Amino acid sequence: MKKILAFSGSYSQDSINHKLAEYAGGLMNNVDMSIINLSDYEAPFYSKEVESENGIPSSIKALRLLFNNADGFILSTPEYNGSIPAGLKNTLDWVSRMEGKIFQDKPVLLMATSPGARGGLSVLNHLSAVMPFWGAKLVGPFSLPKFGENFIDGEMNSEFKNELNKMLEGLNSSVYA
Ligand SMILES: Cc1cc2nc3c(=O)[nH]c(=O)nc-3n(C[C@H](O)[C@H](O)[C@H](O)COP(=O)(O)O)c2cc1C
Repeated sequence: MKKILAFSGSYSQDSINHKLAEYAGGLMNNVDMSIINLSDYEAPFYSKEVESENGIPSSIKALRLLFNNADGFILSTPEYNGSIPAGLKNTLDWVSRMEGKIFQDKPVLLMATSPGARGGLSVLNHLSAVMPFWGAKLVGPFSLPKFGENFIDGEMNSEFKNELNKMLEGLNSSVYA
């Protein structure tokens, strides 16, 4: 069965992006879905000194193993000041210090949501530009604007849900198990 790894780029406890990643993961049938929280994988701020003195943290090695074992990914990220949250970037920088590209030429459904009307468009543009260099075969991106209005009681507005379902089909068909 195809293994999908879903996570958000947020380190906040009540993350709307985590809710979106979880929701999208729940819409995929007949896959082996793992939904993780990056905050469970401790990542000190990267520096050459931290790496040479302490090596790669065991939490990052464990995360890298999950990336290696996945056939595809769902990533939903917050936008911070128009760009990529530092926590997400730092963790992925650590992951890149181990053998192979971060996403290893596997499909990644890229998503973002925010309380505002732009729905993280700027971070989606930034990530769409760089993630192919990280070995991501991009699916999407999917943006859910105005999370509070479009995601109520655990259910998404049907217009956006239809769009998301099409992208999940795209992810499913581009995953090779
Ligand atoms: C430092 C910081 C910068 C932010 N910058 C943006 C931004 O540029 N665009 C945006 O739509 N929302 C921005 N927000 C609001 C986030 O979209 C909002 O906090 C959202 O809930 C974060 O996602 P999360 O709940 O998944 O962590 C910012 C929030 C913080 C804390």
